[in-house]
This record gives sequence, structure tokens and C-alpha cells, in this order.
Amino acid sequence: MNILVTGGAGFIGRWIVKRLLDDGHDVCVLDDLSNGRAENIEEFRDNPKFEFILGDVRNKEMMENLFKDVDICIHTAAAINVQESIENPQRYYDVNVNGTFNILEEARKKDVKVVLIGTCMVYDLSSSEAINEEHPLNPKSPYAGSKLAAENLALSYFHAYGLPVVITRPFNTYGPYQKSNMEGGVVSIFIRSLLEGKVLNVFGDGTQTRDLLYVEDCAEFIVEAAFNEKAVGAVINAGSGKDIAIKDLAVLICKDVERIKHVKHHHPQSEIPKLLCDHTKAKELLGWEPKISLEEGFEKTKKWIKSAEL
Ligand SMILES: NC(=O)c1ccc[n+]([C@@H]2O[C@H](COP(=O)([O-])OP(=O)(O)OC[C@H]3O[C@@H](n4cnc5c(N)ncnc54)[C@H](O)[C@@H]3O)[C@@H](O)[C@H]2O)c1
Repeated sequence: MNILVTGGAGFIGRWIVKRLLDDGHDVCVLDDLSNGRAENIEEFRDNPKFEFILGDVRNKEMMENLFKDVDICIHTAAAINVQESIENPQRYYDVNVNGTFNILEEARKKDVKVVLIGTCMVYDLSSSEAINEEHPLNPKSPYAGSKLAAENLALSYFHAYGLPVVITRPFNTYGPYQKSNMEGGVVSIFIRSLLEGKVLNVFGDGTQTRDLLYVEDCAEFIVEAAFNEKAVGAVINAGSGKDIAIKDLAVLICKDVERIKHVKHHHPQSEIPKLLCDHTKAKELLGWEPKISLEEGFEKTKKWIKSAEL
């Protein structure tokens, strides 16, 4: 099949691309490289089934040309930084809402299936139970708000036009190719601090928990959702099914507690105290379950950071 992957030079996107190419599909990546990197897709450059187009999902004209001969569009392109979204909500609206609108419009004209990558950040606070897809929604940042708006827009195209649309909601994803500077994910940031002999900074008291999903498990979930007819019109979570407090994550990564420091949170109002995924629906609908343990995932991530960035 011909698959268009927006944001395919990004962290999760490049793993989706890898999986699709491994499965023998033709893949076209559109990315403006605003947060993705050419190195992330370097290994695919010589593959005749791979094409890269530098471009912006906000560019309507470009979208029109891009959608020729596409069977499925996996839309991962988004502005993704929660803190930055609080400081610059306009960009988040433009990229995440208008960009998705452009994708949906072209998909509607050419009857192309759209797989949207949503986020677990759209859910309301949960005290103890795992979050399933019925959990109340309550976006706490313009990032989450714009991602939810994009999901709603996509679902409205499913209902109004019968456009085949799938909404995936991965929980916190980590692994090789995730940035390990302050814009990156917590696992990569902690591992990099460990390798560089630096202090690991934990925001606030560190009791906030995250459900950490290894990126190849995440990519497999998204690809399964893209090809399974049962997923059309559905919203589906993916996570490991276990959560870990950030302060415990720091200890797991760096055994030396002297090197773990608690620092003030920049935007405590947007902090989510607990994130634990119930992925029963993904298992029932797609037969998907995560395979990689935290220990294995950390090792793979550490190996990559050592080889790529230090
Ligand atoms: N990383 C996570 O933990 C996580 C969890 C849940 C959902 N998500 C979602 O997964 C998707 C991918 O996230 P990621 O962590 O890989 O981030 P990422 O920033 O590495 O990937 C996003 C890609 O989109 C590209 N992009 C941004 N704006 C664009 C535009 N206007 N036009 C074209 N390309 C553009 C970036 O250059 C980047 O390559 C996002 O939709 C994000 O909301 C991420």
C-alpha cells in the first residue's frame, strides 16, 4: 500500500516508517523538520520504497499534491511541547488543528483513510484506576486542547462523510531517537543526565506517575490500528498497563540518590498527577499488547543515546 506518514522524521513517526517499510509498503514522509531530524530517517534514504518531502501540513496547496495515490495517511505531525503550548498557544492551534483540518479535507476529497495520533494528555485526572477510553476528558494545556480538537474534527468527518478515521491515544512513549534535551521525554533526559554524570532533576515531589510505552510497541500499535477494519471510527488507548512515579523512575535509572534533585515545576497547573493506561480495548480490537519491559526498553534507549549523542 501507499502510506503517507506526516511527521515521519520525528521520534514516533520514524519507527512507524521503519515498521511499514519492513512490511513492504511504499512510504512517503512529509515533515517540516521543525522538531524531527534528517538523521532519524537516514537509514531509509536508499530504500526505493521510501520518499521524503520537506513540507508543512499547514500548506494547503502542498497537501493537495501530496494526497495523489495515497491509501492511508498516518498523521503524526504535531507541535508536541506542553510547556511551549502554554507560552505560544497560537502555534499549537495552527499546526495541530488547522494542519489536521488540511489533512482531513484532502482525505475526504480522495477517500483516504486517516489514522490520527492523539494523546493520553486529553484525559481528566484519575485517582487510582487505569484510564480507559470512557474516562472523562479534560485537556489542561493548549497542547492537549488542540490535540483533542483535532480528534473531534476527525471523528466528525467519520460521522458526517463516512471517512474512515482511527484515533489512537498512546501514553508516554520513550525509546531510541527521542530527544534527550529539555524538549525530550523524561526517560531520555534522565538517561542522558546519568551518562553525563549530571544531576537528575525531578519536577515537584515526583509523585506524579506515568505509564511508559516503548516506542516500537507504540509503532506496532499504530500500524495494527491502521490496517484493522475494526478500528475504524474508534478511539483506542495504548500503554504498558503499569505506571511509575517519576521519583522512582529516577532511582531506577540512577541508583545514586544523591544525584537526584527536586526542582520547582514551571507549570504545576498543567501537571497530571497520575497516568495509567487501560489497554483492554487495544487488546480486544487489535490483539495488541506491549512486549518490551521497562528494563529492556531502558537498555535499548541507553545504548542508542551512548552511540548517537555523546
Ligand atoms: N512522545 C510521546 O510520548 C507521545 C505520546 C502520545 C502522543 N504523541 C503524539 O505522537 C505524535 C508524534 O510525537 P513525537 O513524540 O514523535 O514528536 P516529534 O516532535 O518527534 O514528531 C513530530 C514530527 O512532526 C513534525 N512537524 C511538526 N510540525 C509540523 C508541520 N507543521 N508540518 C510538518 N511536520 C511537522 C516535526 O518536525 C516532527 O518530526 C504527535 O502527534 C504527538 O502528539 C506523542
